[in-house]
Amino acid sequence: MVKILSLLTFSALGMGVLAHPHIKHIDRRFCSLEERNVFPRTDLTTRAVIPKATKWSPPANMVTGLDQVWKQTLKENPGWAQDKNWIIDQMMANNGTINYCVRWNHPGKSTAAARATTAKALQRSMQKWFDVLVGFEGFPLTKLAVNVVGYAVKNKNLLEGNISGLDVYTTKNPDGVPECDPRCYRATHLNGDMSQCPGGKKSRYDISLWLDESLTGEIGGYGYNWGQELSPKYFFDNVNSENIHILLHEMGHGFGLLDFYDWTPQGQTNFIMMAGSAMEVTEFDAWMVRDWWRKLKANRKW
Ligand SMILES: *[C@@H]1O[C@H](CO)[C@@H](O)[C@H](O)[C@H]1NC(C)=O
Ligand SMILES: *[C@@H]1O[C@H](CO)[C@@H](O)[C@H](O)[C@H]1NC(C)=O
Repeated sequence: MVKILSLLTFSALGMGVLAHPHIKHIDRRFCSLEERNVFPRTDLTTRAVIPKATKWSPPANMVTGLDQVWKQTLKENPGWAQDKNWIIDQMMANNGTINYCVRWNHPGKSTAAARATTAKALQRSMQKWFDVLVGFEGFPLTKLAVNVVGYAVKNKNLLEGNISGLDVYTTKNPDGVPECDPRCYRATHLNGDMSQCPGGKKSRYDISLWLDESLTGEIGGYGYNWGQELSPKYFFDNVNSENIHILLHEMGHGFGLLDFYDWTPQGQTNFIMMAGSAMEVTEFDAWMVRDWWRKLKANRKW
């Protein structure tokens, strides 16, 4: 499994206050941590307003940028159409239901309350991407249901409180990281056959939230269509925030969206996929994901 795309590192001043963020980046070409760019932290002065769209009609000042983005997508990810595991594929496969499995790779306890806020944060965050697709060019789904169906932990006693209804895994991958049962992972059973999964269909998971202590101290993350890897401290410091911007950014990679560390689409200055330049999903992000819907729709014959 490729674990890539972006690691953002912000130097934090005090409780969750970001100042002078230093963006660091691991990607396929460099495979080592190197500082690429430093972005000023630019909070949008007003909330991003994303007008609904029913057809491809991006604002004039985004047309060229969107064209550049898709050309770059084809360059960076020529196999995009063969990959049947984009978050849109996951949504389409199960009528808007996305099942998460959480990989809990840190020594803290997981309380029932923390699990409930985690599920809400995942729903709220993915909803922001989903909402911009509703009603657009035949996107057929109107309701998103994000569930957390399982936890992978080093030791079952890290899970406090009521765990009935949850699949609990204590197996590890070769790196010693708790791993949800691959037999229940949709991406490895694209035909929908979950007969090898001990819990059957209800134990299917589509994607993972990976909370890893190795990222503690750095406010950073990784993301792709397997899921989002974040620092547990960053995640729980921000779990009730309306916009958990690193989670939103990493989810964006799961929809196929790129990083923008070394170039800027024409005319664009602030959007969540340009790390550090926006703290929420913006209209440009919305059009990038809508473009993916158009392309996937044609390719998949939806
Ligand atoms: C898909 O989801 C919608 C909205 O929740 C629901 O009304 C519909 O019955 C579902 N369709 C199927 C085939 O399950
Ligand atoms: C434990 O969780 C299950 C599944 O969510 C629920 O049905 C049950 O009522 C809960 N039990 C208690 C004692 O809260």
